[in-house]
Amino acid sequence: MKVILYMATTVNGFIARENDDTGFVSESEWGRFRALANRTGNMIIGRRTHDLMKRNDEFSGLENIKVIVLTRNTSLKSDNPNIVFASQQPKEVLKQLEEQGFREAVVAGGGKLNASFMKEGLIDEIYLDVEPTLLGRGIKLFSDEDFEAKLELVEVKNLSSNETQLHYRVNK
Ligand SMILES: NC(=O)c1ccc[n+]([C@@H]2O[C@H](COP(=O)([O-])OP(=O)(O)OC[C@H]3O[C@@H](n4cnc5c(N)ncnc54)[C@H](OP(=O)(O)O)[C@@H]3O)[C@@H](O)[C@H]2O)c1
Repeated sequence: MKVILYMATTVNGFIARENDDTGFVSESEWGRFRALANRTGNMIIGRRTHDLMKRNDEFSGLENIKVIVLTRNTSLKSDNPNIVFASQQPKEVLKQLEEQGFREAVVAGGGKLNASFMKEGLIDEIYLDVEPTLLGRGIKLFSDEDFEAKLELVEVKNLSSNETQLHYRVNK
């Protein structure tokens, strides 16, 4: 199972403003994310990201993929059959996806979820689509956790005249 972390970030590593606004992420960026999620057939997100995506009607275009929402709350239930709340450990969630036949999994934020996967050494590849923005404060790509990872740069791509994609492999 290949585990891919895919995020849009400011140049200085924020994925949202302090108030959760992600208005700096371009519309074409959302299109690229949807294409990846539809190719792999799944995405794993944190409960806060789920709540915000639901509120902002951002699950459109993702109707055919399995969405796993990590939460410590064992009583949450979804009214959407494609969205499943899971309170298992990240490793267990990946094992279940593999048993269901998925060959790749997409970890898609936010910062707390990303850090919990990174801390356990579960991420194989990272795509960072860098938006031409700096923020003084905001939600970090990885919330404060104790980990360190060495990366190998696989590719740098110009996505548009103003956006760059950094593709890394995580050394294990
Ligand atoms: N730029 C981008 O590409 C992008 C992508 C996604 C999200 N975002 C932004 O990121 C922000 C949200 O990030 P965030 O760090 O505040 O929250 P988050 O990671 O989306 O969600 C945090 C919550 O997820 C659950 N969770 C996370 N890891 C878990 C684990 N290992 N086991 C069990 N539960 C786990 C917990 O839910 P409970 O509290 O229910 O236990 C935790 O409180 C939003 O502003 C969103 O817009 C940006």
